[in-house]
Amino acid sequence: MNEPLVAVKGLGRRFDVSAPWLKRWVERLPRQFVQAVDGLDFSIQRGRTLALVGESGCGKSTVARTVVGLMQPSQGEVRFDGQVVHQTLQSRHAQALRRRLQMIFQDPYASLNPRWQVRDIVAEPLREHGLLADPSDAVQRVGELLASVGLSAKDGPKFPHQFSGGQRQRISIARALATQPEFLVCDEPTSALDVSVQAQVLNLMKDLQQERQLTYLFISHNLAVVHHMADDVGVMYLGRMVELAPKAVLFGSPRHPYTRMLLDAIPDVRAHARVRAPVLGEVPNPVSPPAGCAFHPRCPLAQSRCRHERPPMLWQGANQVACHAVAEGRG
Ligand SMILES: Nc1ncnc2c1ncn2[C@@H]1O[C@H](COP(=O)(O)OP(=O)(O)O)[C@@H](O)[C@H]1O
Ligand code: SF4
Ligand SMILES: [Mg+2]
Repeated sequence: MNEPLVAVKGLGRRFDVSAPWLKRWVERLPRQFVQAVDGLDFSIQRGRTLALVGESGCGKSTVARTVVGLMQPSQGEVRFDGQVVHQTLQSRHAQALRRRLQMIFQDPYASLNPRWQVRDIVAEPLREHGLLADPSDAVQRVGELLASVGLSAKDGPKFPHQFSGGQRQRISIARALATQPEFLVCDEPTSALDVSVQAQVLNLMKDLQQERQLTYLFISHNLAVVHHMADDVGVMYLGRMVELAPKAVLFGSPRHPYTRMLLDAIPDVRAHARVRAPVLGEVPNPVSPPAGCAFHPRCPLAQSRCRHERPPMLWQGANQVACHAVAEGRG
């Protein structure tokens, strides 16, 4: 096996969500923390797509931001091509690393400066990273980048509000590609778009991946989108990875009770689904997650062990699964 391009070990991120100190003092409230991401391990081979899926609030965006270095991890590390991302970003090699990793956000309107012309938005990373031998090269480079995402050089003088949602996401992609990155972290890149437009943008991303040998960490709460994009899929629940497997294995023979619950809730991905069970129950409050296996209040297979002992991630055939029932052969 080759060295993975991206290797994440024991990644954790905690947020202090305490009330302001005066209120805490008057009302004798304790400090409160959310462990948004807890002990995540995964790796991504060059040219492949790992998708992370899970319900809102399970920590997906926190993983995305931590992996690209927008946020410090509280525990663990992210390695990119062997370098520890957060150390490298503090060093004189920061700029060289930042060129190689880019992020695409959910809401292209919020991530594009509305007062800038599209050509300046796309040219900014070229200028910032000193990638233009001559400033007059910008016009041609921007034209090429816009064409590569299905827009036109003629769109350069326009402003973001003159485009549709799908076109705006294409602009974000063009900008992300400007530094010729190897790795893109895509956080719900099409979740704000109409279904018909989603497919076009996803197909564009797949084509670009092929042409440029890109590696993707692709984040979505939508299993149909994940099915379309992923090579491997990680399922998250309350900050933890509960199952990780190649796509065909995860969709064909899911092992974790939570994965099964998610898959049972969508009819079109698994035509041969068993009798469908709805996704039961609410996601618990992440400030005080359930002890043991955090999924136990919603799990049809929960036993007493599940309420106090955290299940480790174990290999079960081609899946990695964190579940006592599966490990005991009753899942
Ligand atoms: N900057 C922050 N400050 C405090 N809590 C945060 C912050 N960012 C995320 N969280 C909390 O961390 C958890 C995970 O959030 P997030 O990573 O956005 O999940 P997702 O992207 O899966 O919806 C949530 O409980 C959220 O409220
Ligand atoms: S460890 Fe227990 S509660 Fe958690 S998913 Fe497995 S059976 Fe259900
Ligand atoms: Mg999110």
